[in-house]
Amino acid sequence: MYNLKDLANTVLSSAEIREQFPVLGISVNGRPLVYLDNGATSQKPKCVIDSLAKYYNEQNANIHRGVHTLSQEATSLFESTRSSLKRFLNAEHEHEIIFTSGTTQGINLVAHSFGKAFINKGDEVIISALEHHSNIVPWQMMCEDKGAVLRVIPMNNAGELDLSVLASMLSNKTKIIAITHVSNALGTINPVEEIIALAKQYKIPVLIDGAQAVQHQQVDVRKLDCDFYVFSAHKMFGPTGVGVLYGKEKWLNAMPPYMGGGDMIKTVTFEKTEYNELPHKFEAGTPNIADVIAFGESIRFMEEIGFDTIRIREEELLQYATQKLSEIDGLRIFGTAAKKTGVISFNIEGLHPYDVGTILDQLGIAVRTGHHCTQPIMDYYRIPGTVRASFAFYNTMEEVDVLSAGIKKAIKMLKR
Ligand code: ALA
Repeated sequence: MYNLKDLANTVLSSAEIREQFPVLGISVNGRPLVYLDNGATSQKPKCVIDSLAKYYNEQNANIHRGVHTLSQEATSLFESTRSSLKRFLNAEHEHEIIFTSGTTQGINLVAHSFGKAFINKGDEVIISALEHHSNIVPWQMMCEDKGAVLRVIPMNNAGELDLSVLASMLSNKTKIIAITHVSNALGTINPVEEIIALAKQYKIPVLIDGAQAVQHQQVDVRKLDCDFYVFSAHKMFGPTGVGVLYGKEKWLNAMPPYMGGGDMIKTVTFEKTEYNELPHKFEAGTPNIADVIAFGESIRFMEEIGFDTIRIREEELLQYATQKLSEIDGLRIFGTAAKKTGVISFNIEGLHPYDVGTILDQLGIAVRTGHHCTQPIMDYYRIPGTVRASFAFYNTMEEVDVLSAGIKKAIKMLKR
C-alpha cells in the first residue's frame, strides 16, 4: 500500500510548488505572508505572469479579424485555450466553451438568454440555500421580469442540502435548476450528480456554479451530464477578468445572444442581423485576449500538478486545520458537511469577525471576513458574518499553525 502523503510529495515538493508563486514569498505588515484567502482569488504562478508580459511585449493584436501574422498568431493562441478547456472539462465540442468575464457574467448570460427563450409567467426556477449572491440575484431579476417563481432548496445546520425537499419541489413548472457545486462560504460539496439525476427525470436542465469547485477537483461535464457549468479563471491560478460558460450545444444554439456587437454577427443590415455561430454568438466585442491566453497557462500548470496531488494536499490541510482550530476555546466552525473542500468559516464567541480578521492581517495572515456574498447563509445562522480561511494546494501545515497561533493572539488582545 502506498502512503498518500508520500505520493503527493513525489510529484513536486511543497517548496518547489511555492517557488512558482512569487507573491507567496512577500511580507505583509512585517510578517511573511500567510495567504488563506484562496476562495476570493488564488495566487498566480510565474508561467501565468510571464504569459501576460510576453503577450503585451511580443504578441499583441486583435483576434479573428486580421490577415496579418500577429493577428493570426494571437487568434491561434486564444483558440488554443478554448481547446485546452474542452479537454480539461471533457466537453464534446470546442464551441461549447464560451469565454466570459467570470462566473457572474456566465450566470447572468444564462439567466438572461435561457430565461428569454424558455421561461414564462408562473414557471419555476430552483436554486439552493447555499448560493452566492451571483447565483441568486440574476435569477431573481429574470423571474421578476417574467413573472416566474424562484424556489430554494433548504439546508441543514451542517450546511448540507436536503434533497428529499428538492424531489418534492420538481414539477413540469420547473424550467431550470441552478446550483453551486461547492459553497464558497462553508466549503460544502453539493451532491450535484444526484441533483442532476433527479432533474433528468423531469428533463429539467441544470446549471452548476463551479467557481469554488474546478480548482479542487476534476470536473467532467459529460460524466456529470450538466447542461451548463460556469467558473472563473482567477480562482484557478489564472488571471482576473476571464471566465468560462460551458453549455450543451443544443441549449446554446436554442438561446438568443446575450450582447450584440462585433464578432457575434454573420451579416448586418439596418433591417436585420444574422447571428454568428457558436461560440462567437455569445462573445460580442473584443474579448480579454491576453488573459484568455494566460488562462491556458494556468490550465497547463494545474494539469502538471495533477488533481491527485491537489486533492491530497488540500484534504490534509483541511483535516489538520479543522483539528487545530476546534481546539481553540470559544471557536465555532460554520459548515460541517461530511464532504467539504478546504474552507473553514468560523467565529469566536463574543468577537466580531472583522476585528479578528484585522488582527490576523497585522500578523501577515490574509483571511476573508464578512458575509462572503452569501447573506442568506448568514441569516440562517443568525450571524453578521464569519472569518473564512480558504486553502489552496500551495498552503502548508506550518501556515495552519501560524493561523491557529494568530487566532489565539487575537482572542487574548480582544478579550482583554
Ligand atoms: N466569491 C468570492 C469569495 O467567496 C469572492 O470570496
